[in-house]
Amino acid sequence: MKIDFNGIPVEIAPLENSSMGALLNEYRDHRKVIIVDENTHDACLERLLYAFPELQQAEVMLLPVGEENKSLEIVYQVWSALLDYRIQRNDLILNLGGGMVTDLGGFVAATFKRGLDFIHIPTSLMAMVDAALGSKTGINVNEVKNAVGTFTAPRAIYVDLGFLETLPAQEIFNGLAEMMKHALILDGNYWDLLKGIRNEAELTTPENILRSIELKRDVVTSDPQETGRRKLLNFGHTFGHGIESYFLSRKAIDHGHAVALGMIAEAYVAFKRNVLSPKDYAEIEWVLSDIFPMPPIPEAAFEAILSHMRNDKKNAGDRINFVLLKAPGTAEINASLTEQEIGEALLHLSLLAKNAN
Ligand SMILES: NC(=O)c1ccc[n+]([C@@H]2O[C@H](COP(=O)([O-])OP(=O)(O)OC[C@H]3O[C@@H](n4cnc5c(N)ncnc54)[C@H](O)[C@@H]3O)[C@@H](O)[C@H]2O)c1
Repeated sequence: MKIDFNGIPVEIAPLENSSMGALLNEYRDHRKVIIVDENTHDACLERLLYAFPELQQAEVMLLPVGEENKSLEIVYQVWSALLDYRIQRNDLILNLGGGMVTDLGGFVAATFKRGLDFIHIPTSLMAMVDAALGSKTGINVNEVKNAVGTFTAPRAIYVDLGFLETLPAQEIFNGLAEMMKHALILDGNYWDLLKGIRNEAELTTPENILRSIELKRDVVTSDPQETGRRKLLNFGHTFGHGIESYFLSRKAIDHGHAVALGMIAEAYVAFKRNVLSPKDYAEIEWVLSDIFPMPPIPEAAFEAILSHMRNDKKNAGDRINFVLLKAPGTAEINASLTEQEIGEALLHLSLLAKNAN
């Protein structure tokens, strides 16, 4: 399956059946660098080398695992190694990994010698349906996520679902949260399909991955620089960011889990404003809280979560922006939240958790 993503080819196929061989052939006289993290080195590199034995000659750049390493310190080390390897502007970088590798590897490629060609080979569900798409590269600075980055397009993106065989179950849930987000903001029929899925095999079909990619493509194409409609993709992330930040220094919860709780909270606000119907809200709450268990959120945490939400880079001035869901498949950007609404939604999450435990 092939899809044109704003001029960038995205292919869903086992690597050996994809057109990646033809693309590599264009670089046959140039050096190649494969960027991996420790996990994708162990779980994914062999599959890539098996599909393209000529890549045995490539330099392999090994990153430490984890979001905390999506940092300038690591980028600096990679830049230095690229200099040591005498990598030139017409060489090729292959990013083999989840969103951490595609974001950081894309950033390295976008900046080294003012820009090298690169391709993404996403290996996590999150990267296949979201992080590798849309040409955003980035790294974190201090604790601010994606504080520095570029909009730079890869030459191509190759999605081989075989890589998901080794992906830990929790990481599947992270990707699922983003797929459900795409469905809720853009495609009610896709939401109807996803809400009925209860196992990984039913979820990670080429058709579903393609649908998620198409939905993200349609938003990004209409707003490549994120000045308007692309903000729809922030659904669940206003509360999600606050909740994730609060739990960071306590018992951390995954990004996808925080986004799922954020989607419940933001749908709750829409329901309280009589924008989202009681039936639609009840269903969204039921589906998401069934899949993503509710962690206890004590009332003492509300102020801290609010404070993280106030500092969110998505805000404009003093406004705390969020995406207002009208129905599954329809949403509006640039709505703003009152602090009272935030308090009520957090109280609601906290009561849901008490009822569930
Ligand atoms: N650029 C964008 O538009 C965009 C969009 C969404 C998210 N992101 C970024 O993506 C990142 C999150 O992506 P992620 O969830 O993929 O995180 P990740 O890259 O940290 O991967 C999650 C974990 O899965 C492991 N892993 C990946 N593929 C594997 C495989 N096939 N087998 C075994 N283990 C594997 C990784 O080593 C890691 O431990 C964040 O940094 C986020 O900011 C970027």
